[in-house]
Amino acid sequence: MVYPIVAFGSPILKRVCHEVDPTSDDTKTLIDDMFETMYASKGVGLAAPQIGMSKRIFVVDGSPFSEDVEEELSAQLKNFKRAFVNPVIIDETGDSWSYEEGCLSIPGIHEKIFRLREIRFRSQNSSGDWIEEKLSGLSARIFQHEYDHIEGVLFPDRMSPLKRRMLQGRLKNISVGKVDTTYRMKLNVK
Ligand code: NI
Repeated sequence: MVYPIVAFGSPILKRVCHEVDPTSDDTKTLIDDMFETMYASKGVGLAAPQIGMSKRIFVVDGSPFSEDVEEELSAQLKNFKRAFVNPVIIDETGDSWSYEEGCLSIPGIHEKIFRLREIRFRSQNSSGDWIEEKLSGLSARIFQHEYDHIEGVLFPDRMSPLKRRMLQGRLKNISVGKVDTTYRMKLNVK
């Protein structure tokens, strides 16, 4: 089932999400629906609050993105297709680097955002076991962006105050539905 995407300005996008049972059928169905919704809206990542569920789940698929980058990165992104359940970042290390980010909840806005290059995290597999892993570069960045969503953080929160002020009008327009998208959006989701 394809869900509409929750628009910027919705209170649910600012809330810290709740843990879920990784073994439940509800979680499995939700993950399937999230992949379907992400592909329908042509995103590389989608977090549960973006479809109106305050749950610690996100899905990613770097492969649509892999054609735009160098060969080495491309291979890394092609295999980066996953659902993450109850993820917890353990640490972020390496240099701070910037890259242009976008977000299905904030259509039409793309800005360079600084993040640390490497992360270590744990998350639960579908049997409920905790697995610790590492990511770096663009796949870490996609993870960090989606992880922010389940912590109630959006990428404009990571912009300079000046940049945010410059984008204020466009952000306001998105929150009231004055924006063109190829996918359905839902406003002011609590
Ligand atoms: Ni996003």
